[in-house]
Amino acid sequence: MSEKDNLNQQYWQQRYEQNRTEWDVGGITPPLKSYIDQLPEKELSILVPGGGNGYEAEYLHQNGFTNVYLLDIAAAPLQNFQERLPMFPRHHLLQEDFFSLTAQQYDLVLEQTFFCALPRDLRAHYARQMFDLLKPNGKLAGVLFSVEFEKEGPPFGGSALEYQAYFEPYFEFLRFEPCQNSVKPRQGRELFIELQRRSRPQFIA
Ligand SMILES: C[S@@+](CC[C@H](N)C(=O)[O-])C[C@H]1O[C@@H](n2cnc3c(N)ncnc32)[C@H](O)[C@@H]1O
Repeated sequence: MSEKDNLNQQYWQQRYEQNRTEWDVGGITPPLKSYIDQLPEKELSILVPGGGNGYEAEYLHQNGFTNVYLLDIAAAPLQNFQERLPMFPRHHLLQEDFFSLTAQQYDLVLEQTFFCALPRDLRAHYARQMFDLLKPNGKLAGVLFSVEFEKEGPPFGGSALEYQAYFEPYFEFLRFEPCQNSVKPRQGRELFIELQRRSRPQFIA
């Protein structure tokens, strides 16, 4: 069985049921908070995919953003979120596979330990799917690990050079740099990215 087949809905649901959620820092991380704090419009449509317990969606909601969607393949974190935030619109909680999502396009997608949770062979597909899910000039922003890990993932690490190849056909790079305000255990091991969707893919021959 391939890595891709193992990391399915059941796998992630069990991780939540068994409280094996080592990635969960219990709140919004400083890089995502700083990014959200400078967003100009509360009406932006924002997707948080692989959002788990949804700390970014919670922060956005509490700060007056009205068009926020939290997506996860596992039911458990979305149930936790609903219990924590009963006022959050229920139809903005999407229990779905990110790669099957088609319904609408967003102004912004936030990335926080979702990319690194996916099998490596889905990375190019992730970049393409982000392109498809964003409106023209929409943005993908957040953090990516910039190191490899000793243990077999998830999380799966990587390098800036590797990631550049996935995103370049679809995005202009506004920021793609070492993250300066990572949570302590991730310091020096993350990139902050802010990528703007191209109007059409550009493949260099
Ligand atoms: C490492 S966790 C990160 C969760 C959250 N972003 C955080 O930082 O706490 C990865 C999350 O992605 C979800 N996930 C994995 N594959 C997915 C997929 N194909 N579509 C949607 N969610 C997925 C998992 O259920 C899990 O909640």
